[in-house]
Amino acid sequence: MIIDALAHQLRQVDSVHATTFTTSVLETYAAELAPLVPVADARVYPVSGGSEAIETASKLARAYHLARGEPDRHIVLARHGSYHGNTRGALDLSGRDPLRAPYLPWLGLTERVPAVYPYRVDLSGSEHAAVLGETITRLGPERVAAFVAEPIGGATTGASVPPGDYWPQVAEVCRRHGVLLVADEVMTGFGRTGTWFACDHWDVHPDVLVAGKGASSGYWPLGLVIASGQVHDTVRERGGFVHGFTWSHHPGGAAVGRAVLQRLVDDDLVERSRVLGARLLTDVRNALGGIEIVGDVRGRGLLIGVELVADRATKAPFPRAAGIAERVTKAAKDLGLLVYPSTGCANGVDGDLFLIGPPLVVTDDELDTIVTRTAHALQTVASTI
Ligand SMILES: Cc1ncc(COP(=O)(O)O)c(C=O)c1O
Repeated sequence: MIIDALAHQLRQVDSVHATTFTTSVLETYAAELAPLVPVADARVYPVSGGSEAIETASKLARAYHLARGEPDRHIVLARHGSYHGNTRGALDLSGRDPLRAPYLPWLGLTERVPAVYPYRVDLSGSEHAAVLGETITRLGPERVAAFVAEPIGGATTGASVPPGDYWPQVAEVCRRHGVLLVADEVMTGFGRTGTWFACDHWDVHPDVLVAGKGASSGYWPLGLVIASGQVHDTVRERGGFVHGFTWSHHPGGAAVGRAVLQRLVDDDLVERSRVLGARLLTDVRNALGGIEIVGDVRGRGLLIGVELVADRATKAPFPRAAGIAERVTKAAKDLGLLVYPSTGCANGVDGDLFLIGPPLVVTDDELDTIVTRTAHALQTVASTI
């Protein structure tokens, strides 16, 4: 169905440049997507991936403040331990030290607040919000353009879910200071965490929402920047947005995006992610509970993170040289299970975790297999330590 939709579209119109043309498939996609996104009066700017979308969102935030006559607003805030992409601007927003280290001479414009990582960072939602507010005040609100964050942690903090009062309070701090809230939903969007977007868990409405991955389910390199009508209209009417890429706004991406939306709706896959995800979290917790190296199992919907530690009581990580995440990934692969490893979560160097993120069409039987193989892989590695 998705491939057919793409083939059909490419036979009609393949590529036209967005500076001159639009296409009916793109306009229809935007109209269908807008009501599903927790952004007021949503307007859609499609690009070719998550990093491009983050770059675009940062520039859009700057363009917005310029349009409003606030040219000093240029600082973008992000969190420690975040991941926003690998291009230079996106990497500067990312708080993952091993990725940044080789390129540090080119980086350093981003200001940071603490990671939302309840397993290791013991701050309540209101304490996080207070730190954000103090940081904005210290920098000078008239100089801060945007706060960029993942609503639920992705690769770097391993599906860490913020405290319940985090998002409403953080959104309020941003509003109070005129700082645009940019939600990076590249990992969490399109049903991954059991709601259409992770912001929906807290009824939070960012000014800009960035998506990718699940938007096209892999059938097209698609990223999305979705801005509120207020941001869009301000930029459009009072300055414009000098930006774009050769392949942005591609009709092929719009056709795939429409077909993916259709499939998510027809097969009720967002609800499926919620229900199966709750089951998976319980089953993984039960199956791994007795394995000494498992420090924490967390997540929402079909995004589960498993953090591995040398000592459960102290949460001490394994030394990086032990390569625990890599060993678990290999043991799982040998059993026919693919997991997504990540390292450096504890202190920027040490710290091992992996994500379990099956497709939203995963069956009950496959979930059982995932749980069994995850436990088996961990037992194999634990027995060699
Ligand atoms: C939260 C988040 N933001 C941004 C990106 C970058 O997206 P891409 O790899 O499509 O450039 C990713 C990719 O994993 C991500 O997880």
